[in-house]
Amino acid sequence: MVEIKLGTIAFIGGGVMAEAMIQGLLSRQTVAPEHITVSEPRDKRRAELAARYFVRVTADNREAAHAGAVVVLSIKPQVLTRVLPELKSQLHAEQLAISIIAGGRIATLNAGLGHPAVVRAMPNTPAQIGAGITVWTATAQVSPAQREQARAVFESLGKEMFVDEEKYLDMATAVSGTGPTYTFLVLEALIDAAVHLGFSREQAHDLVIETMRGSVLYAEKTGKHPAELRNMVTSPGGTSAEAIYQMEKGSLRTVLSKAVWAAYQKSVLLGETVGKAEPRKPVDA
Ligand SMILES: NC(=O)c1ccc[n+]([C@@H]2O[C@H](COP(=O)([O-])OP(=O)(O)OC[C@H]3O[C@@H](n4cnc5c(N)ncnc54)[C@H](OP(=O)(O)O)[C@@H]3O)[C@@H](O)[C@H]2O)c1
Repeated sequence: MVEIKLGTIAFIGGGVMAEAMIQGLLSRQTVAPEHITVSEPRDKRRAELAARYFVRVTADNREAAHAGAVVVLSIKPQVLTRVLPELKSQLHAEQLAISIIAGGRIATLNAGLGHPAVVRAMPNTPAQIGAGITVWTATAQVSPAQREQARAVFESLGKEMFVDEEKYLDMATAVSGTGPTYTFLVLEALIDAAVHLGFSREQAHDLVIETMRGSVLYAEKTGKHPAELRNMVTSPGGTSAEAIYQMEKGSLRTVLSKAVWAAYQKSVLLGETVGKAEPRKPVDA
């Protein structure tokens, strides 16, 4: 891995994800604190970020956008409609715009910013502890050097995966972006099941978390297909066989598949509205 040093970077929106990136970038020394600018409407939050990371803060999105060779849009999807007109034609040709906004399509960002060099990314919640995976793509106008800058930004959140077509962003939103939700629900259900058996909540929590962590690490380290690993622990007439029978009877695979498909469809639908002008309300005569 080539170590990339970012020149300057600006964040439009100083929330949870911006903070995770700032933390990651600073701890890896990818960028110096004085080269980070954050625009954020709330006084208290600005003061908090400045005190915690020694970064530059402003309430003015344009000021921030002018301050970064890389400009990261880290606002909520519903705010994009308001922010795009503020930033329209504010970026110069050499700047790179990165959006992590769920559903924010490249065409919407290109048109709204009036800027061709755009990276669209989908991180996920474990990014907050540097254990995320970010799927990203770039327009043709993003130079090889800018791609490396984008990669360095995403590495501040954990792993990254480049895809060459935007359609994979909606798929990634359903698989890795929404993925922690499936995992947390399964964790919760297993903990409740262990409590049902008679373990204390604390014991149940530790047993399930460690089993899940160990199983994931084991699957990763051995590189074996999950079905092979499962077969290895399924003795004839044993407890695993009994449990598998119930999971198949309850359509666990189908439920998971339907959940991922529904999240994908929702992401595609979001793309049709995020960052677009809201329809005007009819004026009463
Ligand atoms: N969190 C995740 O795990 C995750 C995963 C994948 C993708 N994303 C995407 O990442 C983006 C940011 O998510 P987040 O969790 O970091 O949200 P967040 O914590 O709400 O951060 C958004 C920040 O933007 C600020 N803001 C509001 N209006 C603004 C404006 N007009 N100009 C500039 N800043 C403004 C907010 O300030 P106030 O608090 O004062 O409103 C807030 O500090 C979202 O678009 C989301 O889709 C997040």
